[in-house]
Amino acid sequence: MRRGSLLQLVAIGILIGGAVSAVALLIPWLPPSAGKERDRIDFVFWFTTGICIAIFAVVAAVTVYSVLKFRARPDDDSDGPPIHGHTGLEVVWTAVPAVLVTAIAIVSAVVLSRNDSFPKDHLTVDVTAQQFTWSFKYPGQGNVTSTLLRLPLHKSVKLNLHSLDVIHSFYVPEFGQKQDAVPGITTHLKITPTKLGSFPVICTELCGLGHALMRSQAIVMQPAAFEQWAKESKKGISGPGAGKAVFDNNGCGGCHLFTPAGSKGTVGPDLDKLPADAKQAGKPLEAFTRESIVKPEAYIQPGYPPNVMPKTFGTLPKSQLDALVQFLIQSGKKGAK
Ligand code: CUA
Repeated sequence: MRRGSLLQLVAIGILIGGAVSAVALLIPWLPPSAGKERDRIDFVFWFTTGICIAIFAVVAAVTVYSVLKFRARPDDDSDGPPIHGHTGLEVVWTAVPAVLVTAIAIVSAVVLSRNDSFPKDHLTVDVTAQQFTWSFKYPGQGNVTSTLLRLPLHKSVKLNLHSLDVIHSFYVPEFGQKQDAVPGITTHLKITPTKLGSFPVICTELCGLGHALMRSQAIVMQPAAFEQWAKESKKGISGPGAGKAVFDNNGCGGCHLFTPAGSKGTVGPDLDKLPADAKQAGKPLEAFTRESIVKPEAYIQPGYPPNVMPKTFGTLPKSQLDALVQFLIQSGKKGAK
């Protein structure tokens, strides 16, 4: 090959490599990382993408060069020269990919094992998915529950994922991993947040009509603020005012109007009218209230569609459930007077 031709070939390769690199680097394909595991995944991603871009540039440069240089002229009807392979070339294009694929496998295996190993002092969060909500329980913090995933900064967290109905999938793009929540088994995911802030929790498994709305927030807090929140929530769900704390933590007010809690939701039945509704259903107030929380499909208030109230609340610890029921009926009795 003459020197001029080689320079042309290299120039085409650099041009193509540069264009493809620009597409890879200049477009923000994902939001910025906010987790240690995501950083490792990004490393594997860019390691592999870099290799792909280099190979693509070489192959595309040779193709473009050949099309330009060796295409048949309009008046050329002759056969091409007979060529019988090239052992050297074949060894190169077998050996180089073998080395690259092995390198990718090793890097991926190291990242996978690191992202799956939990340090001894990790925080545990039980995640319950169901059509169409997420709820989070903290067994190490006195079974405090929340509809928001609160996490302390720089602490490794082990999520234990459960589903009460169909398959859902937990995904926070900033944390870089997805994990399915499957009925009947417990799956796990490790997160180590590296940035303060609020990030979307998204369901990424088509799970029914409300799939697109099955969202929550992951809130990364300073460790001291997290401890404070956990302590106050724990106090809230055990002392006086426990019922209101459970009501607030579980987002009841998002759907229900209830004057004692100061909530104005209109999606579900008006809870100020609980005593009247119990009478209409022909059940005692307390039993009716408990059943409506634990088994919402047992009785559907006329005028409201079924399958809207989450069935998650049956998993509330008994003490919290009792407090919530008492809060709802005590205030209801007062409201009826
Ligand atoms: Cu749950 Cu989609």
